[in-house]
Amino acid sequence: MVLSADRYPFLLACRRERTSYTPIWLMRQAGRYMKEYRALRRKHSFLEMCKTPDLAAEVTLQPIGQLKVDAAIIFADILLPLEPMGIDFEFAAKEGPVFHHPVREMKQIEKLRVIEPQEDLSFLMEAIRIVRRELEGKIPLIGFSGAPFTLASYIIEGGHSKNYALTKGMMYQNRAAWDALMEKLAMVLIRYLNAQVQAGAQSLQIFDSWVGCLSPSDYREYVFPYSQRLIDGVDKSVPLIHFATSSSTLLELMRETGGDVMGVDWRVDLGEAWKRIGCGMAIQGNLDPVALFGPPDLIEREVKRILEVAGGRPGHIFNLGHGILPNTPVDNVVRLVDMVHELSTKLPSY
Ligand code: CP3
Repeated sequence: MVLSADRYPFLLACRRERTSYTPIWLMRQAGRYMKEYRALRRKHSFLEMCKTPDLAAEVTLQPIGQLKVDAAIIFADILLPLEPMGIDFEFAAKEGPVFHHPVREMKQIEKLRVIEPQEDLSFLMEAIRIVRRELEGKIPLIGFSGAPFTLASYIIEGGHSKNYALTKGMMYQNRAAWDALMEKLAMVLIRYLNAQVQAGAQSLQIFDSWVGCLSPSDYREYVFPYSQRLIDGVDKSVPLIHFATSSSTLLELMRETGGDVMGVDWRVDLGEAWKRIGCGMAIQGNLDPVALFGPPDLIEREVKRILEVAGGRPGHIFNLGHGILPNTPVDNVVRLVDMVHELSTKLPSY
């Protein structure tokens, strides 16, 4: 079926308009759980795949044939804009990203470049253009970035962290450096996201994956101004999904920060989250990715529970609470998408 862009169920749900079924896409829907991805990955490094438009486009489209998802997400990484800023990193096997020169001093922050995404990240913009051509009339394409806090945590810690001691250390003890870093990141991310929209992204997601490690008062003081600046600076012609994990204590603050859709993980009850966010925002989530390792009846029970809690209200986008895990059985992912479509058509309309 060929759809015009204003009839895509995913985009309608982002705007809290009624759809005939609940749209679904999955964070990390392209990735290691798919054999097609692993086959390509044997020949290319992850960063090589991101930086070669034809490969990034191919990987973006790999799940689309198999899963009847309602949106695609461009294959990239939240760390990509850091390299042209002058921050080098690599993906070490098993360890994840490693930064050999963590940014911890004002003089390092002053040297960080404000990027020109059209030139510095032209590979991503080209991948977006290719995918858009392939998906025209079928499903929309989501672009994305990290949020200032989550990116700052990688840059300061030098990689993934358990307790964010160095990140919070800068926040608490070197306010000038913290503010300068967050301001620069917000500026870079505005350019990065707007360039993706110009290239053809039809929705955006901001990943503030690790911000749940903060108290509400620290969020307000150290993060809110910069996430708000980012969201305010982004092209309003496309809907924006604001996502974090372990964020149940931050929902009201995150709503105030902005966005059209709140992305929530499984640690919070979706109905409870929606009540607290209020009716001015759509909601995305929130199946535990580990449920996909269970038998079909467990998945069905969980899907039903989430759909019932959402209660057929316009503005629910089904997703996992975080990305698909590497060893997830593909058949279960296919089943999940079909189940959400099928069961949601049977819901009483709100
Ligand atoms: O959702 C999608 O399908 C789009 C692709 C996507 C990737 N990373 C591909 C990827 C997206 C949206 C991201 C976002 C991202 N990247 C986040 C935020 C989302 C989240 O998980 O909270 C973060 C924190 C990163 C940083 C990052 N990239 C880490 C920590 C790692 C290593 C951990 C891991 O899963 O291997 C990556 C690598 C990465 N990003 C892979 C993929 C498919 C695996 C690369 C490989 O080895 O093939």
